[in-house]
Amino acid sequence: MRAALIDRFGGPEELHIGEVPVPEPSAGEVLVRMLSAGTNPLDYKIRDGSSGMAKKLTADDFPLILGREGCGVVEALGPGVSGLEVGQTVFGMPALTHRAGCYAEYAALPVNCLAPVPVDADPIVFGGTALVLSTALTAAIDQGRVSEGENVLIHGGTGGVGQLAVQLCRRAGAQVWATASTRNQDRLVDLGANPIDYSTQDFTQASPKMDLIIDGAYFDTFLPSLDHLVEGGRIVVLPSLADLTPAKERGIEAHIPVFGPMPDRLAELAPDVASGALSIEVAEVLPLDRVADAHRQLETGHSRGKIILDLR
Ligand SMILES: NC(=O)c1ccc[n+]([C@@H]2O[C@H](COP(=O)([O-])OP(=O)(O)OC[C@H]3O[C@@H](n4cnc5c(N)ncnc54)[C@H](OP(=O)(O)O)[C@@H]3O)[C@@H](O)[C@H]2O)c1
Repeated sequence: MRAALIDRFGGPEELHIGEVPVPEPSAGEVLVRMLSAGTNPLDYKIRDGSSGMAKKLTADDFPLILGREGCGVVEALGPGVSGLEVGQTVFGMPALTHRAGCYAEYAALPVNCLAPVPVDADPIVFGGTALVLSTALTAAIDQGRVSEGENVLIHGGTGGVGQLAVQLCRRAGAQVWATASTRNQDRLVDLGANPIDYSTQDFTQASPKMDLIIDGAYFDTFLPSLDHLVEGGRIVVLPSLADLTPAKERGIEAHIPVFGPMPDRLAELAPDVASGALSIEVAEVLPLDRVADAHRQLETGHSRGKIILDLR
Protein backbone atom coordinates (compact mmCIF):
# COMPACT_ATOMS: atom_id res chain seq x y z
CA MET A 1 0.00 0.00 0.00
CA ARG A 2 1.03 3.63 -0.36
CA ALA A 3 1.69 5.57 2.83
CA ALA A 4 3.25 8.89 3.87
CA LEU A 5 6.34 8.01 5.89
CA ILE A 6 9.23 9.56 7.73
CA ASP A 7 12.54 7.73 8.23
CA ARG A 8 13.73 10.25 10.84
CA PHE A 9 12.52 13.42 12.59
CA GLY A 10 12.84 16.64 10.62
CA GLY A 11 11.13 19.17 8.37
CA PRO A 12 8.28 18.61 5.91
CA GLU A 13 10.82 17.40 3.35
CA GLU A 14 11.24 14.24 5.45
CA LEU A 15 7.72 13.17 4.44
CA HIS A 16 7.82 10.82 1.49
CA ILE A 17 5.40 8.40 -0.13
CA GLY A 18 6.51 4.78 0.15
CA GLU A 19 5.20 1.29 -0.61
CA VAL A 20 4.82 -0.76 2.58
CA PRO A 21 2.96 -3.99 3.42
CA VAL A 22 -0.74 -3.73 4.26
CA PRO A 23 -0.85 -4.15 8.07
CA GLU A 24 -2.35 -7.28 9.65
CA PRO A 25 -5.00 -6.46 12.26
CA SER A 26 -4.03 -7.94 15.65
CA ALA A 27 -6.47 -8.98 18.37
CA GLY A 28 -8.81 -6.07 19.07
CA GLU A 29 -8.02 -4.32 15.78
CA VAL A 30 -9.73 -3.94 12.43
CA LEU A 31 -8.16 -3.36 9.05
CA VAL A 32 -9.56 -0.14 7.62
CA ARG A 33 -9.32 0.86 3.94
CA MET A 34 -8.76 4.56 4.46
CA LEU A 35 -10.90 7.08 2.59
CA SER A 36 -9.52 10.19 4.25
CA ALA A 37 -7.21 11.38 7.03
CA GLY A 38 -7.29 14.64 8.95
CA THR A 39 -4.08 16.61 9.45
CA ASN A 40 -3.39 18.25 12.80
CA PRO A 41 -0.62 20.34 14.40
CA LEU A 42 0.19 17.20 16.43
CA ASP A 43 1.31 15.53 13.18
CA TYR A 44 4.06 18.05 12.45
CA LYS A 45 5.07 18.00 16.12
CA ILE A 46 5.54 14.21 15.82
CA ARG A 47 7.30 14.67 12.46
CA ASP A 48 9.82 17.17 13.87
CA GLY A 49 10.25 15.21 17.12
CA SER A 50 8.98 17.94 19.46
CA SER A 51 5.77 16.30 20.75
CA GLY A 52 5.57 14.18 23.88
CA MET A 53 4.51 11.22 21.73
CA ALA A 54 7.58 11.61 19.49
CA LYS A 55 9.86 11.39 22.49
CA LYS A 56 8.47 7.90 23.24
CA LEU A 57 9.29 6.57 19.76
CA THR A 58 12.26 4.25 19.26
CA ALA A 59 14.32 3.29 16.20
CA ASP A 60 11.99 0.27 15.74
CA ASP A 61 9.06 2.62 15.04
CA PHE A 62 10.68 3.92 11.82
CA PRO A 63 9.82 4.23 9.02
CA LEU A 64 6.82 5.81 10.74
CA ILE A 65 3.44 6.43 9.10
CA LEU A 66 1.98 9.71 10.37
CA GLY A 67 -1.68 10.67 10.81
CA ARG A 68 -3.70 10.39 14.02
CA GLU A 69 -7.30 10.44 12.77
CA GLY A 70 -9.21 9.21 9.78
CA CYS A 71 -12.23 7.66 8.11
CA GLY A 72 -12.48 4.47 6.09
CA VAL A 73 -14.24 1.21 5.35
CA VAL A 74 -13.77 -1.87 7.53
CA GLU A 75 -11.98 -4.39 5.30
CA ALA A 76 -11.28 -7.20 7.80
CA LEU A 77 -11.72 -7.95 11.50
CA GLY A 78 -8.79 -9.01 13.67
CA PRO A 79 -9.07 -11.95 16.07
CA GLY A 80 -11.82 -11.61 18.66
CA VAL A 81 -13.29 -8.42 17.23
CA SER A 82 -17.01 -7.77 17.41
CA GLY A 83 -19.20 -4.70 17.25
CA LEU A 84 -18.24 -3.64 13.70
CA GLU A 85 -18.90 -5.30 10.37
CA VAL A 86 -16.88 -5.63 7.19
CA GLY A 87 -18.06 -2.96 4.75
CA GLN A 88 -19.07 -0.47 7.47
CA THR A 89 -17.70 3.09 7.18
CA VAL A 90 -16.07 4.24 10.41
CA PHE A 91 -14.07 7.14 11.79
CA GLY A 92 -11.83 7.58 14.79
CA MET A 93 -8.47 8.31 16.34
CA PRO A 94 -6.22 5.68 17.91
CA ALA A 95 -4.80 6.33 21.39
CA LEU A 96 -1.48 8.18 21.31
CA THR A 97 0.24 5.00 22.51
CA HIS A 98 -0.93 3.13 19.40
CA ARG A 99 1.50 3.30 16.48
CA ALA A 100 -0.93 3.05 13.54
CA GLY A 101 -0.78 5.95 11.09
CA CYS A 102 -3.75 7.16 9.06
CA TYR A 103 -1.85 8.79 6.15
CA ALA A 104 -2.05 5.49 4.27
CA GLU A 105 -4.28 3.38 2.04
CA TYR A 106 -4.88 0.97 4.94
CA ALA A 107 -4.52 1.16 8.72
CA ALA A 108 -4.97 -1.49 11.42
CA LEU A 109 -6.88 0.44 14.09
CA PRO A 110 -8.16 -0.63 17.51
CA VAL A 111 -11.88 -1.40 17.31
CA ASN A 112 -12.38 0.57 20.54
CA CYS A 113 -11.39 3.85 18.87
CA LEU A 114 -13.86 3.65 15.98
CA ALA A 115 -17.42 4.95 15.58
CA PRO A 116 -19.80 4.38 12.65
CA VAL A 117 -20.18 7.11 10.03
CA PRO A 118 -23.86 7.81 9.23
CA VAL A 119 -25.08 6.49 5.89
CA ASP A 120 -24.51 8.92 2.98
CA ALA A 121 -22.30 11.22 5.08
CA ASP A 122 -19.23 12.85 3.48
CA PRO A 123 -16.18 10.68 4.28
CA ILE A 124 -13.86 13.65 3.78
CA VAL A 125 -15.49 15.57 6.65
CA PHE A 126 -15.32 12.49 8.91
CA GLY A 127 -11.60 12.04 8.21
CA GLY A 128 -11.00 15.30 10.04
CA THR A 129 -13.48 14.93 12.89
CA ALA A 130 -12.31 12.48 15.58
CA LEU A 131 -9.26 14.26 17.00
CA VAL A 132 -10.64 17.79 17.01
CA LEU A 133 -14.05 16.75 18.33
CA SER A 134 -12.51 14.64 21.13
CA THR A 135 -10.24 17.56 22.05
CA ALA A 136 -13.09 20.06 22.05
CA LEU A 137 -15.29 17.75 24.17
CA THR A 138 -12.47 17.32 26.68
CA ALA A 139 -11.65 21.03 26.79
CA ALA A 140 -15.17 22.46 26.87
CA ILE A 141 -17.20 19.80 28.65
CA ASP A 142 -14.94 17.56 30.76
CA GLN A 143 -12.25 19.96 31.92
CA GLY A 144 -13.92 23.31 31.22
CA ARG A 145 -17.32 22.19 32.63
CA VAL A 146 -19.01 24.89 30.56
CA SER A 147 -22.55 25.62 31.70
CA GLU A 148 -25.56 27.67 30.73
CA GLY A 149 -25.24 31.42 31.13
CA GLU A 150 -21.47 31.42 31.52
CA ASN A 151 -19.13 33.70 29.61
CA VAL A 152 -16.52 31.81 27.60
CA LEU A 153 -13.58 33.07 25.52
CA ILE A 154 -11.88 30.89 22.93
CA HIS A 155 -8.48 31.91 21.57
CA GLY A 156 -8.06 30.53 18.05
CA GLY A 157 -11.80 30.22 17.39
CA THR A 158 -11.40 29.36 13.70
CA GLY A 159 -8.80 26.60 14.12
CA GLY A 160 -9.70 22.95 13.87
CA VAL A 161 -10.37 22.58 17.60
CA GLY A 162 -11.50 26.17 18.19
CA GLN A 163 -14.45 25.98 15.77
CA LEU A 164 -15.85 22.95 17.61
CA ALA A 165 -15.16 24.45 21.02
CA VAL A 166 -17.18 27.53 20.04
CA GLN A 167 -20.07 25.34 18.91
CA LEU A 168 -20.04 23.05 21.97
CA CYS A 169 -19.98 26.03 24.34
CA ARG A 170 -22.85 27.69 22.46
CA ARG A 171 -24.83 24.43 22.67
CA ALA A 172 -24.25 24.37 26.43
CA GLY A 173 -25.94 27.77 26.61
CA ALA A 174 -22.83 29.89 27.18
CA GLN A 175 -22.17 33.33 25.73
CA VAL A 176 -19.08 32.91 23.60
CA TRP A 177 -16.39 35.35 22.51
CA ALA A 178 -13.64 34.12 20.21
CA THR A 179 -10.45 35.52 18.71
CA ALA A 180 -9.07 35.18 15.18
CA SER A 181 -7.25 37.37 12.66
CA THR A 182 -9.09 39.84 10.43
CA ARG A 183 -9.67 37.44 7.55
CA ASN A 184 -11.47 34.94 9.81
CA GLN A 185 -13.91 37.27 11.57
CA ASP A 186 -16.77 36.21 9.29
CA ARG A 187 -16.39 32.59 10.34
CA LEU A 188 -16.52 33.52 14.04
CA VAL A 189 -19.84 35.28 13.39
CA ASP A 190 -21.18 32.26 11.44
CA LEU A 191 -20.35 30.05 14.40
CA GLY A 192 -22.32 32.30 16.74
CA ALA A 193 -19.40 33.82 18.62
CA ASN A 194 -18.85 37.47 19.46
CA PRO A 195 -15.83 38.10 17.21
CA ILE A 196 -12.59 39.65 18.43
CA ASP A 197 -9.85 40.53 15.92
CA TYR A 198 -6.63 39.87 17.84
CA SER A 199 -4.62 41.81 15.25
CA THR A 200 -6.48 45.07 15.95
CA GLN A 201 -8.21 44.56 19.32
CA ASP A 202 -7.13 43.79 22.88
CA PHE A 203 -9.33 40.91 24.03
CA THR A 204 -9.15 42.10 27.63
CA GLN A 205 -10.85 45.36 26.53
CA ALA A 206 -13.19 43.82 23.94
CA SER A 207 -14.89 41.30 26.25
CA PRO A 208 -15.99 40.96 29.89
CA LYS A 209 -14.11 38.79 32.39
CA MET A 210 -14.67 35.12 31.69
CA ASP A 211 -15.85 32.06 33.58
CA LEU A 212 -13.90 29.85 31.18
CA ILE A 213 -11.12 30.50 28.66
CA ILE A 214 -10.06 27.86 26.14
CA ASP A 215 -6.67 28.95 24.87
CA GLY A 216 -5.61 27.41 21.56
CA ALA A 217 -2.86 29.96 20.96
CA TYR A 218 -0.98 30.07 24.32
CA PHE A 219 2.23 32.05 23.66
CA ASP A 220 0.83 35.61 23.60
CA THR A 221 -2.50 34.84 25.20
CA PHE A 222 -1.97 32.69 28.29
CA LEU A 223 -0.66 35.23 30.82
CA PRO A 224 -3.12 38.05 29.93
CA SER A 225 -5.91 35.46 30.01
CA LEU A 226 -5.17 34.68 33.67
CA ASP A 227 -6.06 38.32 34.49
CA HIS A 228 -9.22 38.05 32.42
CA LEU A 229 -10.94 35.35 34.48
CA VAL A 230 -13.59 36.00 37.13
CA GLU A 231 -12.83 34.74 40.65
CA GLY A 232 -13.00 30.93 40.40
CA GLY A 233 -12.70 30.99 36.58
CA ARG A 234 -11.07 28.09 34.70
CA ILE A 235 -8.61 27.98 31.84
CA VAL A 236 -7.94 25.09 29.45
CA VAL A 237 -4.79 25.46 27.33
CA LEU A 238 -4.63 23.31 24.21
CA PRO A 239 -0.90 23.01 23.34
CA SER A 240 0.30 19.92 25.22
CA LEU A 241 3.67 21.34 26.21
CA ALA A 242 2.22 24.53 27.75
CA ASP A 243 3.55 25.47 31.20
CA LEU A 244 0.60 25.91 33.58
CA THR A 245 2.78 26.98 36.53
CA PRO A 246 1.77 30.68 36.42
CA ALA A 247 -1.90 29.64 36.78
CA LYS A 248 -1.27 27.06 39.50
CA GLU A 249 0.82 29.55 41.50
CA ARG A 250 -2.18 31.86 41.57
CA GLY A 251 -4.62 29.08 42.51
CA ILE A 252 -6.33 29.24 39.11
CA GLU A 253 -7.80 25.97 37.84
CA ALA A 254 -5.90 25.16 34.65
CA HIS A 255 -5.83 22.10 32.42
CA ILE A 256 -4.30 20.72 29.25
CA PRO A 257 -6.55 18.23 27.42
CA VAL A 258 -5.42 14.64 27.83
CA PHE A 259 -7.84 12.00 26.62
CA GLY A 260 -8.21 8.60 25.09
CA PRO A 261 -10.52 7.40 22.32
CA MET A 262 -14.20 8.15 23.01
CA PRO A 263 -16.09 6.29 20.26
CA ASP A 264 -19.46 6.37 22.04
CA ARG A 265 -19.42 10.16 22.31
CA LEU A 266 -18.24 10.47 18.71
CA ALA A 267 -21.04 8.14 17.58
CA GLU A 268 -23.60 10.22 19.47
CA LEU A 269 -22.51 13.43 17.73
CA ALA A 270 -21.87 11.88 14.29
CA PRO A 271 -25.41 12.61 12.98
CA ASP A 272 -24.90 16.29 13.84
CA VAL A 273 -21.55 16.33 12.04
CA ALA A 274 -23.15 14.63 9.02
CA SER A 275 -26.01 17.15 8.88
CA GLY A 276 -23.75 20.14 9.46
CA ALA A 277 -25.54 21.01 12.72
CA LEU A 278 -22.05 20.61 14.16
CA SER A 279 -19.95 22.16 11.45
CA ILE A 280 -16.47 20.90 10.52
CA GLU A 281 -15.06 23.40 8.07
CA VAL A 282 -13.02 21.67 5.37
CA ALA A 283 -10.56 24.34 4.25
CA GLU A 284 -8.63 22.17 1.81
CA VAL A 285 -8.63 18.61 0.47
CA LEU A 286 -5.26 17.32 -0.76
CA PRO A 287 -4.04 14.04 -2.26
CA LEU A 288 -1.60 11.93 -0.24
CA ASP A 289 1.42 13.06 -2.24
CA ARG A 290 0.80 16.67 -1.17
CA VAL A 291 0.99 15.83 2.53
CA ALA A 292 4.11 17.99 2.98
CA ASP A 293 2.13 21.02 1.75
CA ALA A 294 -0.48 20.31 4.40
CA HIS A 295 2.24 20.27 7.06
CA ARG A 296 3.77 23.53 5.79
CA GLN A 297 0.38 25.19 6.01
CA LEU A 298 -0.34 23.84 9.50
CA GLU A 299 3.06 25.01 10.71
CA THR A 300 2.19 28.62 9.94
CA GLY A 301 -0.24 28.38 12.89
CA HIS A 302 -2.83 30.15 10.76
CA SER A 303 -4.74 27.40 9.02
CA ARG A 304 -8.51 27.63 9.23
CA GLY A 305 -10.75 24.62 9.87
CA LYS A 306 -9.32 21.35 8.60
CA ILE A 307 -6.89 20.28 5.88
CA ILE A 308 -7.84 16.73 4.92
CA LEU A 309 -6.06 14.11 2.82
CA ASP A 310 -8.23 12.32 0.25
CA LEU A 311 -7.02 8.71 0.23
CA ARG A 312 -9.62 7.25 -2.17
N1 LIG B 1 -3.84 18.77 24.13
C1 LIG B 1 -4.35 18.13 23.10
O1 LIG B 1 -4.72 16.96 23.20
C2 LIG B 1 -4.50 18.84 21.78
C3 LIG B 1 -5.36 18.33 20.81
C4 LIG B 1 -5.53 19.03 19.62
C5 LIG B 1 -4.80 20.20 19.41
N2 LIG B 1 -3.92 20.62 20.35
C6 LIG B 1 -3.13 21.84 20.13
O2 LIG B 1 -4.03 22.94 20.13
C7 LIG B 1 -3.56 23.97 19.26
C8 LIG B 1 -4.67 24.33 18.28
O3 LIG B 1 -4.97 23.19 17.50
P1 LIG B 1 -5.84 23.33 16.16
O4 LIG B 1 -5.92 22.00 15.53
O5 LIG B 1 -7.10 24.06 16.44
O6 LIG B 1 -4.86 24.30 15.33
P2 LIG B 1 -5.08 25.06 13.94
O7 LIG B 1 -6.21 24.41 13.19
O8 LIG B 1 -3.75 25.16 13.32
O9 LIG B 1 -5.61 26.50 14.36
C9 LIG B 1 -4.83 27.43 14.95
C10 LIG B 1 -5.66 28.72 14.99
O10 LIG B 1 -5.04 29.59 15.91
C11 LIG B 1 -5.31 30.92 15.48
N3 LIG B 1 -4.28 31.81 16.02
C12 LIG B 1 -2.97 31.90 15.67
N4 LIG B 1 -2.36 32.84 16.44
C13 LIG B 1 -3.31 33.33 17.29
C14 LIG B 1 -3.31 34.32 18.32
N5 LIG B 1 -2.21 35.00 18.65
N6 LIG B 1 -4.45 34.54 18.99
C15 LIG B 1 -5.58 33.87 18.70
N7 LIG B 1 -5.65 32.93 17.72
C16 LIG B 1 -4.53 32.67 17.04
C17 LIG B 1 -5.32 30.86 13.98
O11 LIG B 1 -6.25 31.81 13.48
P3 LIG B 1 -5.75 32.99 12.48
O12 LIG B 1 -5.32 32.29 11.21
O13 LIG B 1 -6.96 33.85 12.30
O14 LIG B 1 -4.58 33.67 13.15
C18 LIG B 1 -5.76 29.43 13.66
O15 LIG B 1 -7.10 29.38 13.18
C19 LIG B 1 -2.29 23.39 18.59
O16 LIG B 1 -1.17 23.83 19.31
C20 LIG B 1 -2.46 21.90 18.78
O17 LIG B 1 -1.24 21.19 18.77
C21 LIG B 1 -3.77 19.98 21.53
